Amino acid sequence: MIEESYQIHAAKYPAECTFSESDWNALANMWYPIALEEDIAEKPVALSLLDVRLVVARLGDEYVVAKDLCIHRGAPLSAGWIKNSCVVCPYHGYEFGADGKCTKVPCDPDWKIPAKVRLETYLHTVKYGLIWVCLSGDPQNQLPEWEPEADNPAYRRFHMGPEIWDCSAGRAIENFIDNAHFSFVHQSSFGQESSATMGTEYEFEMTDNWMTMEFEYLATNPSDSPISNEAELKRHMHRTLYFPFCTRTCISYPGGREHIIHINITPVSARKAQLIVVFTRNFDHDVPVEKLLEWERKILGEDRVIIEMQKPEEIPLEISAEVHAKADKASIAYRNWLRKVGLGRSFTA
Ligand code: FES
Ligand code: FE
Repeated sequence: MIEESYQIHAAKYPAECTFSESDWNALANMWYPIALEEDIAEKPVALSLLDVRLVVARLGDEYVVAKDLCIHRGAPLSAGWIKNSCVVCPYHGYEFGADGKCTKVPCDPDWKIPAKVRLETYLHTVKYGLIWVCLSGDPQNQLPEWEPEADNPAYRRFHMGPEIWDCSAGRAIENFIDNAHFSFVHQSSFGQESSATMGTEYEFEMTDNWMTMEFEYLATNPSDSPISNEAELKRHMHRTLYFPFCTRTCISYPGGREHIIHINITPVSARKAQLIVVFTRNFDHDVPVEKLLEWERKILGEDRVIIEMQKPEEIPLEISAEVHAKADKASIAYRNWLRKVGLGRSFTA
């Protein structure tokens, strides 16, 4: 059992939920990367995870992650402010500390505040500059491993997002373990049809927490690509999918150059996914980050267009519902994993 200074509540299946109850229960047992630390500063922030509205705030040295609802009269705490390391409700000014307890009721300062007047706080942790939340308080998955690049000054870090895509988290992450799309979706950036068979037969391993794959792809970059100005680059790619919705893809180029893409997806609702993409790379340190990001946004924008058009929006977990070529063995294994952890016939995340 995880010991925390705040009370860990198990969130309840929300009203007007876009997930089936059984899917929601299975998904609530996972860690999700809901925010970048740097985006949580002077004000409480409203976020959604699995249709649960959350307030996230930095209170002194701690973060609080709680249901975005004041127990007094139901005002959203995210509309309030921070004072003395407390979240202040915008309606009647009740103040709540990082442990979730109410410390002040301004209209009745002598009231012995009942324990019930508190925030519904949820399990969270901080890793890699991201705030991770598990709504059930009993996570069944592991956080990703970002090694050796985490905190390594040889790797420059930059990020894209958070941004909300109109798709299920499942369809989105499945795209990022799919190697056969590069030569088509990315023809305007690094892909080319003549490489269509590259990466389709890959080394593949899987445990209950992750799957890895390794392959090569011949990237053909246009002259305005910021990747060391080389037109043709053989990429060695090593990818890990950390179940359910995070990937780490290390792209190695000749000469020891590594560009690592960490895709962090959070299911906001059944058909809305939040992406925070963190990049770390040990070369091209003289290229402005904005130029690198422009290139990455172009590539991810190509993915987004196709993912947002997929039907059905959910991944069909009945394997026979779609067809599968040899390149799709990772996605079949992923779908089977989703079923194994209790997701339904038509996965709704
Ligand atoms: Fe929050 Fe009254 S509704 S203090
Ligand atoms: Fe892609």
